[in-house]
Amino acid sequence: MSIKAYSRRHFLAGTASAAALTVFGTGELSGVSAFATPLEPSPGANLIPYGAAVRSDALAADPSYRAAVIANCQLVVPESELKWLELRPTRDEYRFEKADAIVDFARQNGIEVRGHTLAWYGALPKWTESIATRAEAERELIDHIETVVSRYKGAIPSWDVINEPLVDWPESAGSLRPSIWAKRLGTDYLRIALETTAAVDSDARLVLNEYDVEFAGPRFAARRKALIELLRSLRDRDVPLHAVGLQAHLFADRGIDRDGLQSLLSQIKALDLDVWVTELDVIDYELPGKIGERDALVAGVASRFLEAVCEVVQPKAILTWGLSDRYTWVPIYFKRRDGMPNRPLPLDAELKRKPLFDVIEQFRHKV
Ligand code: G3I
Repeated sequence: MSIKAYSRRHFLAGTASAAALTVFGTGELSGVSAFATPLEPSPGANLIPYGAAVRSDALAADPSYRAAVIANCQLVVPESELKWLELRPTRDEYRFEKADAIVDFARQNGIEVRGHTLAWYGALPKWTESIATRAEAERELIDHIETVVSRYKGAIPSWDVINEPLVDWPESAGSLRPSIWAKRLGTDYLRIALETTAAVDSDARLVLNEYDVEFAGPRFAARRKALIELLRSLRDRDVPLHAVGLQAHLFADRGIDRDGLQSLLSQIKALDLDVWVTELDVIDYELPGKIGERDALVAGVASRFLEAVCEVVQPKAILTWGLSDRYTWVPIYFKRRDGMPNRPLPLDAELKRKPLFDVIEQFRHKV
């Protein structure tokens, strides 16, 4: 059974004309926001929506993968195509082709798109290093957000406005990860990015996305403490923010800190902030090689995490950082010593369902 079977039919009935535009996302774009018509809510509203990070090149070149995304995802998030590095090869240029292709594809198939990401230390083009003053940094950040968010207004209802703001082992909310934004604007870059996004699209859900807050140990406890302090400081200054994204790049060899995580979630809830699971996968490079055993251990880690989360909050959605082991970032940093492929995602490289798929399906129904 695939995760989603109904709304595509429902959507296509409404937008036959849009489908004519593109086989896979080469629609003509005019004016500021060519994707203005909001999508109809899907009939399966009592399920926690599921989605995955996708890659424009794989969607274009791999029909079976594209079919698997259509069959299983209610949301997609561009893995890299909405990052500064892809959008802004030079200061005076915006390259929207790849991002547009994903948004077109999603619209044709009744799938919602998440935006990732507007203010991050990573995936920044080299020219941003030459940003020399506070005023220049503010102008560039605001211009980028206004241009990108206005283009996708109505088509991208939620944005990871802020991604990974904290250093690895923070002492406080002020322990920001080094970036041109933190260097030139200090903690103010968070307020500027969030206020600008809200000003451009007052309906957009604004998310602050972070990782390594799920595990047991002093570094992770320090990250949870600093994250809550940061969220409180934004709340205290009435900075617009709607949700926290838990990336959930889980490590099969790290214990989930159930109490620490649930305390974090309770405090987030008390700040009237929603929770999204934004980039779930299970890094398996330390696990035994045997496939059956490894897949079961991967599913077990995700189950413990989702159980701890869903006991305290109902995530707005559960997204994995990729759908199939065929396309995953994990081997970039966590290649297995035995040379076997990593298996961190719900579908294997043959697009077959794994125990992790069933675990996610089980928790989606927990509403
Ligand atoms: O598109 C270029 C291609 O033209 C070029 O030939 C190729 C060779 O260098 O690079 C391609 O760009 C790569 C891009 O992924 C697209 O595949 C970049 O080098 C590579 O650095 C980039 O890595 C991405 C990384 O973020 C940095 O943006 C990973 O795929 C992506 O999974 C990873 O995602 C991050 C989230 O944004 C934030 N949370 C952690 C997560 C995993 O690190």
